[in-house]
Amino acid sequence: MNKYLVGITLLLALLAGCSDKQGSSAQQQLPVDIAGGKVLAEKSCASCHGMDGRGVKDNIPNLAAQIETYLLKAAQTYDHGKRAGSSGNVMEIAKELSPDQLRNVLGYYASLPPLSNSGNVSASYSYYDRGQELSKPCARCHGADGNHTEAGVPRLAGQHPQYIVKATKAYRDGTRIMPTMHEKLTGLSQADLENIALYFAFNKPKSVARNEANTSEGKQFTNNCAKCHGSMGSSDDTSIPNLAGQNVKYLNTTIKAYRDKVRDHGVMHQTIGGLKDSEIEKIAAFFSSEQPTQSTFTPPETIDALAKKCDLCHNIGSTNPEMLTPKLKGQNRTYLINAMTAYRDDSRGNSAMHKISSVLYLDATIEAIATHYSAQAAK
Ligand code: HEC
Ligand code: HEC
Ligand code: HEC
Ligand code: HEC
Repeated sequence: MNKYLVGITLLLALLAGCSDKQGSSAQQQLPVDIAGGKVLAEKSCASCHGMDGRGVKDNIPNLAAQIETYLLKAAQTYDHGKRAGSSGNVMEIAKELSPDQLRNVLGYYASLPPLSNSGNVSASYSYYDRGQELSKPCARCHGADGNHTEAGVPRLAGQHPQYIVKATKAYRDGTRIMPTMHEKLTGLSQADLENIALYFAFNKPKSVARNEANTSEGKQFTNNCAKCHGSMGSSDDTSIPNLAGQNVKYLNTTIKAYRDKVRDHGVMHQTIGGLKDSEIEKIAAFFSSEQPTQSTFTPPETIDALAKKCDLCHNIGSTNPEMLTPKLKGQNRTYLINAMTAYRDDSRGNSAMHKISSVLYLDATIEAIATHYSAQAAK
């Protein structure tokens, strides 16, 4: 009985194997017609993807020398409505072609020699260098490293990056008012603000001259502040600014501004609401004479280290049908930015890349890694 069953199972398995083979031979396709694909490319694709496979704009991907089966899968996801693309339904065109036409035209593009970008990519993808560059207009008031000591101007060196981003955004968008800063910040992107914030956060704050008298007088009024700002004015929470060693005049004006509801923040007004001017002055004197500490935060991984991980899959791409992976080197920067943003925000369905894109939580990382790849020689 058992033998009989085993026999039947074996037979069934063999039959299944056979029919599988038959199935796949029935699906066997004609060889790709590259010359026919070229004609189609000229008619339907070249206005955007060029005849040499170079996207005519920075948000249009280069197709030259890309993994052929990946291109096919990508075109099908547009066809099936699962991928819209950053600039609307420009790829509707894929729907108008038969499966064979699509194979031919993509076969044509994949057969072209690889294209590298020439010169249009800025070379630096270090957060620090980019932030330093972008913060040049701030140096006049804040000092080149964020340690300027002009009365009324806050120190930025060593401040929490998340807080700097929040504050600069508020000035940029006009919810915190300071006309000169608004002007300097207008036009800067989220990624720019993140780079600036990381630059200042990485810089060491200069120590201050300690004043014992200030400490003993002011400390008594700061019990309520400690749970958020830390007992010495240095907070572990990256959204709460460090007060230690901050400019005394700035602290004075700011605390009064919260009290008088000139600067908007609910929590701060509640805590400070009842303070007298003389108490505020002592608090400011206390915090400003504490030694500033550099904010504690986990810096994002360097782009070189990150790219090594991406290259495990992307270096030469992959033709594995389970994991069709495109090449990224020499790809257009804006296109790469759009693609990564779409994975991160889950608007381009691919669970592998969506998971990986959790390391792309900063716009600055997306921009920097796009710069890195678009500047590499294409393979
Ligand atoms: C009107 C401009 C336009 C035309 C015409 C056009 N494309 Fe595209 N194509 C784009 C843009 C823009 C994208 C990127 C969309 C996105 O962000 O996902 C794209 C993306 C693609 C992709 C995905 C590449 C990748 O790396 O994932 C493939 C494949 C593609 N196009 C093939 C074609 C083919 C084949 C044709 C001609 C039949 C064609 N396109 C015609 C603009 C165009
Ligand atoms: C004209 C002088 C000036 C320039 C230029 C300037 N700032 Fe400021 N900045 C100030 C002053 C004054 C304040 C305090 C304003 C207030 O009371 O809200 C300030 C506040 C800030 C704060 C808030 C700090 C905190 O602790 O809340 C940040 C962040 C900041 N500036 C960043 C920048 C950046 C980035 C630039 C360059 C793009 C810049 N500033 C250019 C004078 C300047
Ligand atoms: C419940 C938490 C909390 C408490 C308690 C608190 N703060 Fe704050 N404080 C904050 C937050 C959050 C901000 C950032 C607000 C913003 O984005 O404008 C802030 C901002 C500030 C700033 C502005 C710093 C800068 O760089 O612009 C000062 C000054 C300040 N607090 C002083 C105090 C003092 C003094 C006390 C105690 C009397 C206190 N805070 C109590 C949460 C708190
Ligand atoms: C485990 C393998 C794997 C790793 C690691 C990986 N990727 Fe991908 N990536 C893929 C696959 C598979 C696709 C194709 C997904 C699809 O079809 O949309 C892809 C697609 C992409 C695309 C779209 C390219 C195009 O032509 O449309 C970008 C951009 C990208 N990945 C960036 C990255 C970056 C940046 C990293 C590192 C932080 C990374 N990937 C790490 C597997 C990987």
